[in-house]
Amino acid sequence: MRPIRATIRQGAWRHNLAAARKWAPGSKVMAVIKANGYGHGALRAAKSLSDADAFAVASIDEAQHLRRAGVDKSILVLEGAFTAEEWLVANQLHIDMVIHQSRQLDWLEQASLASPQGVWLKVDTGMHRLGMQPSEVQGAIYRLDKCPSIRKPLVMMSHLASADLVNSSDNSQQLNTFRRVIDGLSVGASMANSAAVIGLPETHFNWVRPGIMLYGISPISGTSGLELGLQPVMTLESEVIALRKIAAGETVGYCSEWRAAKASTIATVAVGYGDGYPRHAPSGTPVWINGSCYPLVGRVSMDMITVDVTAATETVSVGAPVVLWGEELPIETVAEMAGTIGYELVCQVTQRVPFIEVS
Ligand SMILES: Cc1ncc(COP(=O)(O)O)c(C=O)c1O
Repeated sequence: MRPIRATIRQGAWRHNLAAARKWAPGSKVMAVIKANGYGHGALRAAKSLSDADAFAVASIDEAQHLRRAGVDKSILVLEGAFTAEEWLVANQLHIDMVIHQSRQLDWLEQASLASPQGVWLKVDTGMHRLGMQPSEVQGAIYRLDKCPSIRKPLVMMSHLASADLVNSSDNSQQLNTFRRVIDGLSVGASMANSAAVIGLPETHFNWVRPGIMLYGISPISGTSGLELGLQPVMTLESEVIALRKIAAGETVGYCSEWRAAKASTIATVAVGYGDGYPRHAPSGTPVWINGSCYPLVGRVSMDMITVDVTAATETVSVGAPVVLWGEELPIETVAEMAGTIGYELVCQVTQRVPFIEVS
């Protein structure tokens, strides 16, 4: 069997959820497990994060998947209904829905709902992606008040564009707009993603909505999850499958992109972009092998990478353990080298990688 695997540490999820609660002690925690639990497995995430107060996903399909598997906790669909019919499915399965535009409200008004329906009303305070304009909110609330089956209290939500830049004036501008919108309303309120849970306590309100931090990954660039006291849930591991010595001047990999300046030892590792390792990771990206980090050299192939282990003081042999990211090697470092973010790396681990759960 190919030695690639993603080890999923359930205890890390519990640890990170407890950390989120410590940062936001006065708020309920909605654990964001969309995109298949940020690539970790939505059901696995739901199971290990069962102490969360609610879950958030992107679509009704993701919510249905959880319900069908027996997850009975509150679930919120962050993008709300894409069709009128989705309100009926949501209502039947007791799934709460975001309303971010008036056509979703039109569909809700026309739906005959059998049971109380949870609704979060999203307002655009400056991210300009989804949400009603602040000037539309009063009208939307008036319409919602007239719908017979809406569960109270309604929750008003907004999303921060620059929460990872703690001192950005965008944050105070969005917060001020949000405060103005909810002023005097009998509603719940929610603004904070992971970065805001950690760095912007004034945005915590009733509900925080952490995602990435629950997976042990830092939402703040230049900082690793480990430095924030978080524990990585996923470790992407493999092994050295071949070793060779090359002479000064010889090249490694496709297009002969990397050339050895001196006699070198090259380890070939069974992981590639076909597993979700970023193809754009450049030479120099660290790879952990048996206790130390060594530089990736040459292009990332579909199934393999090549690593310069010339400097190894310990023996690096065929079968030596390799960590591409995890506790031994922060995913944030690999992501930065590859010009991306940890979010994308965990989301793009492919189906052929076996996932192994450990406690
Ligand atoms: C509306 C909303 N809230 C919360 C989150 C969680 O964000 P993060 O993973 O940065 O904590 C997301 C994720 O994109 C989101 O779209």
